[in-house]
Formats: sequence, C-alpha cells, structure tokens
Amino acid sequence: MFSVFKLTVLFLLARIGVASQGEEVGFIYNGFGGADLQLDGTANITSNGLLMLTKVNTRQQQGHAFYVNPIHFLDPSSPDGAVALSFSTTFVFDIVPEFTPLGGHGMAFFIGPTRGLPSDVQASQYLGLFSDSNLNKSENHIFAVELDTAQSLVFNDINDNHVGIDINGLVSVASAPPSYFHKDGQSKNLSLISGESMQVWIDYDGVHKHLNVTLAPIHVSKPALPLLSISLDLSPVMKDSMFLGFSSCTGHVSSSHYVLGWSFKLNGQTEELNLDQLPKLPRQGQRRTNQKLPILIIVLPIIAAALVLATIFGIQIIIKRKRNFAEVHEEWELDFGPHRFKYKDLYVATKGFKHKELLGIGGFGRVYRGVLPTSKIEVAVKKISHESTQGMREFVAEIVTVGQLRHRNLVTLLGYCRRKGEFLLVYECMPNGSLDKFLFNPSMPVLNWSQRFQIIRGVASALFYLHEGWEQVVVHRDVKSSNVLLDREFNGRLGDFGLARLYDHGTEPQTTHVVGTLGYLAPEFSRTGKPNTSTDVFAFGAFMLEVACGRRPINPRASADQDVVLVDWVFSCWSKGAILDTVDPKLGINYVEGEMELVLKLGLLCSNGVPTARPTMRQVVQYLEGELPLTDLSSLTLSDSGLKFVDGRSFDDFLVTPSSSVSEWTLSGGR
Ligand SMILES: *[C@@H]1O[C@H](CO)[C@@H](O)[C@H](O)[C@H]1NC(C)=O
Ligand SMILES: *[C@@H]1O[C@H](CO)[C@@H](O)[C@H](O)[C@H]1NC(C)=O
Repeated sequence: MFSVFKLTVLFLLARIGVASQGEEVGFIYNGFGGADLQLDGTANITSNGLLMLTKVNTRQQQGHAFYVNPIHFLDPSSPDGAVALSFSTTFVFDIVPEFTPLGGHGMAFFIGPTRGLPSDVQASQYLGLFSDSNLNKSENHIFAVELDTAQSLVFNDINDNHVGIDINGLVSVASAPPSYFHKDGQSKNLSLISGESMQVWIDYDGVHKHLNVTLAPIHVSKPALPLLSISLDLSPVMKDSMFLGFSSCTGHVSSSHYVLGWSFKLNGQTEELNLDQLPKLPRQGQRRTNQKLPILIIVLPIIAAALVLATIFGIQIIIKRKRNFAEVHEEWELDFGPHRFKYKDLYVATKGFKHKELLGIGGFGRVYRGVLPTSKIEVAVKKISHESTQGMREFVAEIVTVGQLRHRNLVTLLGYCRRKGEFLLVYECMPNGSLDKFLFNPSMPVLNWSQRFQIIRGVASALFYLHEGWEQVVVHRDVKSSNVLLDREFNGRLGDFGLARLYDHGTEPQTTHVVGTLGYLAPEFSRTGKPNTSTDVFAFGAFMLEVACGRRPINPRASADQDVVLVDWVFSCWSKGAILDTVDPKLGINYVEGEMELVLKLGLLCSNGVPTARPTMRQVVQYLEGELPLTDLSSLTLSDSGLKFVDGRSFDDFLVTPSSSVSEWTLSGGR
C-alpha cells in the first residue's frame, strides 16, 4: 500500500487505482511529468512530460519504459486460476522520422513477465523486444502491439507501415496497414511516420477471448470499428504478475518515438485521456508533415552568415570595384540568392587559393581548404573550370536542390559561386579527407575492419537515401572511394553528388568528358550512356570490393595471379572456395569473417552485368544490416569462366569506354 500512497501523493497528474484482487486496477497519465515509470536505454521523460523512447539521428538504439507496479492479470476465481482477465488501455503516440519516407524502426506496447527485458534484446527489426535467442519461445510470455515502420522480410512484415499483434515473437498473428473508419463510413489510411499524433486503443475481452486494436488520429474519437479484431486467448501468455510497457528502437534509419499519454484499466473500460492536457511535441526542426527536409534549420545560420557577409562586401564593392573579384551574375540567379557565395569570401577563405590549402585534385577540379572569414566555418571549396553557360541555369537549380539533401553520410553542399570560366562549389569540410588515401597510400594509417565496415554501411545508406529517400530519385553517378570523405569520427560521407551532370548540360570541348570513373562504370552504361540507380549499385559494388580488398577496381599492374579487374579476381577466388584470399593483406587476420564474406559476396552481386539482376540499394542496406539473408551466389549470372557475364559480354568490353582511358582513370584518383 505504501507505493500506492506514494504515487498518489507525488504524482498529481496520475490517478492510481487500488490493486486488490478482482477489483479494478488502472492508471491514467495525461503526460508523464513525474510519472512512476522505469526507463532504460534511450528512453527519457522530457521537461514538459513527453515520454521519448528514442531520438532521431541515433543508430541501433533502444528505449523502454515500464509501469513500475505489477498487474495481476490472471483471474483467481477462474477454475484453475489461469484465465486472463479483461483489460483496456489507450495511448497517444507520435513518430517523427529522420527522413520523411523512411521510418526506423517502430515501437510497441507490450505486456511481459518482468520489469525489464533480457539484456540481449536487439534493435532494428527486433523492436527492442526480442533477440535471436528468444524469438518465438512460449517462455517469453510477451504480448505486444507493434507500430512497425520498417519492413522486415524475415518476419513476414506486410509493408513498412503496419500495426501488428505479436505473441512471443515478431511474426504478427494479425497485422494491417493503419487506417480508421471515419464517421462518414469511409476508411481512411494513416501513415505511422506522418509526425502526427495518433491514438491507439487495445481492448481485450477475457470472457469471449477477443482482442481489438483500434487506431485514429488524435482528436478523432474512438472509431466504432477496430483496425484489428481477432479471437485470441491471452491466458497462456499471461502470468499472474505482469508488467506493462513500451519499447522502441532505431536501426540504420531512425525516428523519434514519443508517447504523450497513457491510461490502463484491468477488468473495465479504460478512462479516456484528456487530450488537451497532453504535452506538446518539440516544434523545432523535426516536425515534418508535408515539408521535405529541415534544410533551412540547418543551413539558416550559414545563409545568415553569408547574407551578412554579402551585405558588408556589397557596400565595399561599391566603394572600390575590384576586378579581381568579379563574378558572373544573371537575373535568374536571384532565386538562388541564399545559396550564392561571394567570390571574395571564398578567395579570403582559401588565402587566395594558395597551393598550401590544396586538399586534392579530382576529376572535376581542384579542392581547397578554407575558413569563411566571418562565420569561421571550415569549408572545402571546389574550383571547376567551366566555360559553357549553356544549361547553367538548370545545373545551378539542380545543384541547389540537390544541395538541400541532408543525410549524415552525405557531404553537405553549402552553396556555389560563379565567375567567368569558373564554377565554385562550397562544401562542408571533411577533416580526414578522402577514403582512397587511407586505402591506397602506404604512408597513411590503416583503417581497421570495423571502420571500413562502418564506412561501407554509411555510404550504402546515403545511396539508398539518394535513390529512395527523397521525392525525386537522385542518381549519384560517381560512387568511388575518392568521392567518399571521412569526417572527424571516420564516418564515410559521399560527396560530389549530381556533379557529373555539369557535363551533361552544356557541351564542354576543352574538358575531359569524365562522367563516372572507369572500373566503376556499369557495362550497360557505355552502351546507353544513361546513368540510373542500378549503375550506381554497380559502382557501389566496385567500391565495396575496393574497401575490402584494399585494391583499386582496375589495376593494370596487378601480379599474374591477381587479375587486372578486381571483380574477376574476387569471383575466381570465390569459385575456388577461397573468397577470403582477396582480403586486404594490410588487415592481416583482424576482421570479422562473416561481415567480410558478406561484403565481398555482395560486391559480386552488385557487379552483375545485367542491370536488373543487381540488388537495389534498399536490398543492399538490408543485406548489410542482416535484415535480409544474402541471396545464394550460385544464382549469380557470372559464368565461372571468370570474365564472362551471362549475356556473353566479357567484362573487358567496358575496359575501353568512349570517354575514358586507363591513364585518365589513374589521374582522377584524387578528389
Ligand atoms: C489504403 O491502403 C490500402 C492498403 O494499403 C490500399 O489498398 C488502399 O487503396 C488505400 N486507400 C486509399 C484511399 O489510399
Ligand atoms: C471488438 O470489436 C467488435 C466489433 O466492433 C465489438 O463487437 C466487440 O465488442 C469489441 N470487443 C472489445 C473487447 O472491445
């Protein structure tokens, strides 16, 4: 009784029913300020009373919240004292995803035998509730209603937006895409990751052994028809003393998972929440319902700084016109004003494009390190000589649009500047430079396997985001290790997206026509010249192999027993059952065999000469996350003669492409 007394005194918001056998037990939290919940993992209660289970921009994290008191779910008056009692519960939740169309990974209301979960429960598709070791065991005694926002094929998920009823495991006994019946009799679909608050009602009838799960947007009263309504006897699942809680986790992609209010009643109809009293979600940044990305929030300080600079220098320029800093401005560029940098600023930032500030020379131009004069932001400025003005407007529009993409594994493009014959792009600075240096420069420290695997997964998720995470499909066109930059924590960040386009619009006679890089170019590309997502997948395959093997995709100086073309070598080693012979010798034996094999085999799958036979980036991410078992390689359409693809083309066919030669390929190695 003490705990009941303590709770009532301490927590004015919660009214706690008295637990004694056969009577009603219940509670109501209109917000969780001071609520008596036991939290673990990333779960916390915000200052205004939101229960925040997980947070966006976290990977593979879990958060749990338990109502501290046990509930006695078994009816002692039933014949063997083992019949589950009726209960009713409702809660309001809100899922705010990191990227609008992708959720990660979902949340669940659950009832379990202990106040706490086994220490080995896993994130991602396991929802922080189960682990490989306890899936589908009747000893789990776990009943859950999942709000799942990612599709796990291993658990037969119907899609990446569904509500499911789970018993002791994650293959739902019933599931449905979220929808509700409107008063007008129409069914309306909902998206769990819309960022809009929604309410769930779970009603179990212990007499008729029936369970209903009902869903509706907040402020819509409980629909008469449930979303899921099934015959289910919870008696075998329940123990006498059970705990109630919420679980949530993130995976490769993340969402913030919130619970705003919650009520429960044993043996009766739960009290309705007072929706007006529920805490509000944080406004800043993350509420994304219709809008695309929080571009402005991230870029605003930079834009503001740039505007301030522009104003200051605008005045100065009137006073003394410096031919030196002349730029090319056209009227249409006014639309892109905030993304435009002053040449003078970039000049000052890079100390006049001094050789000492040179970070690298890439296929497209020189890259300089710089510090913006006023804001002191560290940037990398890429200087591309470009004479043509044809198609410039489309290109700038595209660069600016693409520059709005935000992903932790993409290098952020901050803006651009134009001069006569010159185009400058301003990127966020990546302190550790490009990955190829670490892989191929003997004087650089060796990246260990866990760093490499992390980089591969990061770049995969960035490409997946470019392909599917946005309203338009963005094809990168030039995935390779020299375009992968490393931030301070050695996360791989893909750079230079969309840049290859510059040479599509507007013809450029003086410039070498490098669209894509030899060794990463899909064979069909040299035929059609049309890049698409599957040509990116091909390049990503070559990239994975080079990271695992520490070798360039094409090495004209390869020794006799190692083919010139890396993928051929890996394939021939694989067919001899010795795929691990291709591992970068610099790693020694310090790598995880399972991961290494996965990367090498996946590299082969992506290198398939038939575009349609390659996996999608979504599948690649799922393979890398272990969410999808790897396809059997024997179905790969590479013939074991080594170089030939099923369509009869030799891999060597694309060694010579119309636009590149081996020497150019070697030169374009830098960034
Ligand atoms: C709602 O979703 C279902 C299944 O996902 C789909 O078949 C149906 O067409 C959708 N209805 C509307 C109005 O979008
Ligand atoms: C479940 O829904 C059905 C259909 O609306 C209803 O007849 C039944 O009473 C409901 N059961 C519970 C426990 O709410």
